[in-house]
Amino acid sequence: DWTTGNIVEEQVERIREQVGTGRAICGLSGGVDSAVAAALVQRAIGDQLTCVFVNHGLLREGEAEQVETDFVAATGAKLYVADEQERFLSALAGVTDPEEKRKIIGREFIRAFEAAEVEIVKESAEEGEPVRFLVQGTLYPDVVESGGGEGAANIKSHHNVGGLPEDLQFELVEPLRTLFKDEVRSVGAQLGLPDEIVQRQPFPGPGLGIRIIGEVNEERLTLLRKADAIARAELTAAGLDQEVWQMPVVLLADVRSVGVQGDGRTYGHPIVLRPVSSEDAMTADWSRLPYDLLARISNRITNEVDGVNRVTLDVTSKPPGTIEWE
Ligand code: XMP
Repeated sequence: DWTTGNIVEEQVERIREQVGTGRAICGLSGGVDSAVAAALVQRAIGDQLTCVFVNHGLLREGEAEQVETDFVAATGAKLYVADEQERFLSALAGVTDPEEKRKIIGREFIRAFEAAEVEIVKESAEEGEPVRFLVQGTLYPDVVESGGGEGAANIKSHHNVGGLPEDLQFELVEPLRTLFKDEVRSVGAQLGLPDEIVQRQPFPGPGLGIRIIGEVNEERLTLLRKADAIARAELTAAGLDQEVWQMPVVLLADVRSVGVQGDGRTYGHPIVLRPVSSEDAMTADWSRLPYDLLARISNRITNEVDGVNRVTLDVTSKPPGTIEWE
């Protein structure tokens, strides 16, 4: 539409002004925001942009593949993939505090970008200009909730705003900083991104790292990935993807409860389903999902995911609860 077309043109102009002939890198998280930011910058400066996908090992099932195939197919952007799972897991070892996790993930993200930048410059034929710009898909609500907006409280350190180290070597390009999610989606559609990317439900940068309540480790990630994949598949099968804003699936890794399966006693972890409806994530209400759907998800998770013997539903609105548990 007219307004969206204007936003695209205006931002393309601004990006060209800011970046000039410089080179930029853009982190792709797999989410809508970073994909749209990257596509906008790609539109503005073409091959001066290299997209970097840091696989931090905190992604859900199938997400890495989605970035590596769908996004590149849609935009033709240059993509550099950095497998950094080891870096993140060791940095997170022993950490349970939510803000500490967020800060560590944010910090390691930047470090990983810096490492990627060195590689990109090395690999590029012309030694020329170093990468000076870092593109981020920061939205208006992220700015507000990280304390950057007017009169805002610092609620959570969003890893793309609050977690930046002071010695950051890049200048930030944030073309979505004044936009809300629905505007970002129409910009994405305008830029030709496919529905699978544009209509994707939000997923936080720190990924499953803030959906494991307790220490993050490989075993817990594997367990949560399985539970999450089941919940997502059932929500999609029920045709409710558009109706539900997002449905975090949370593992209470330090909690155990007694159950019974077959003839045996179990002592496993609870999974929390957190389906919410929202306009912009600033406020949210818990989604009244059909009982039958909840029953299917619960049955499948407890049957198919070893170590989980209980599924619970979060019926808290925002406020007072935030959407993510950490
Ligand atoms: P909360 O939990 O604050 O989440 O109610 C609001 C929305 O933001 C997403 N979220 C994040 N997105 N980086 C992101 O890009 C982050 O660090 C982050 N933390 C939360 C969350 O999924 C919800 O859509």
